Amino acid sequence: MEITPSILTADFTRLGETLEEAVAAGIDWIHMDVMDGNWVVNRTVTFGPALIRSVRDRLGPEVTIDCHLMTTNAEETWDQYVDAGVDIVIAHTEAVDDFPALIDDLHDSGVQAGCVLNPSTPAEDVLPLLPNLDLVLVMSVIPGKGGQSFMPEVEGKVRAFRDAIDEQKSNGGRAVKLMIDGGIKDHNAAMVAEWGIDIAVVGSGLINDRGTIAENLAAINAALG
Ligand code: DX5
Ligand code: ZN
Repeated sequence: MEITPSILTADFTRLGETLEEAVAAGIDWIHMDVMDGNWVVNRTVTFGPALIRSVRDRLGPEVTIDCHLMTTNAEETWDQYVDAGVDIVIAHTEAVDDFPALIDDLHDSGVQAGCVLNPSTPAEDVLPLLPNLDLVLVMSVIPGKGGQSFMPEVEGKVRAFRDAIDEQKSNGGRAVKLMIDGGIKDHNAAMVAEWGIDIAVVGSGLINDRGTIAENLAAINAALG
């Protein structure tokens, strides 16, 4: 299982150094959490395309960057994130009216399409999109902030996606990546890997005062075995 950092617990005045530290530790995928002050329940604002552009310019083309859009208007703003240099746009199924059209727009623009669903949203809302998606992201916290507790009740949903993706692959369909986001630490990383997760977003478990990113990543990878 691959690990990608969420930067919400980073010191934003040192973001470039923090991300370079992550890349030096072996990270090759950065997860950018965009909140617009409206869509998440706690009405938080994080950052937008300008910061993502700076991260892309600083890290160069080799690192994969996804943007997790926790916004009301992904259908109208996705192109700003493409212009900022992301590889994958991940939008919430709960916030988009015509998801198949959004997937087509993203593919036409040369980027990958991801769909994310909240802990309370059933897999059935996203399963019909699997044939055209590149990534499914299962939220294991309620979106809005870093450092929340993992919600183990998403296990059934993760396993349902794993089975559906494996079946699609065995029929020659897209190899959709399965990602999880929220509350992942060294103590539960192996569990979600066993559920079938390909990529885990780790925020406070990676960027914290307890250790360097390299030390925290090593602890997670040791737990993964
Ligand atoms: C939650 C965000 C996450 C989250 C991850 O709204 O999408 O990416 O902050 O942070 P941790 O790992 O601290 O839960
Ligand atoms: Zn996220």
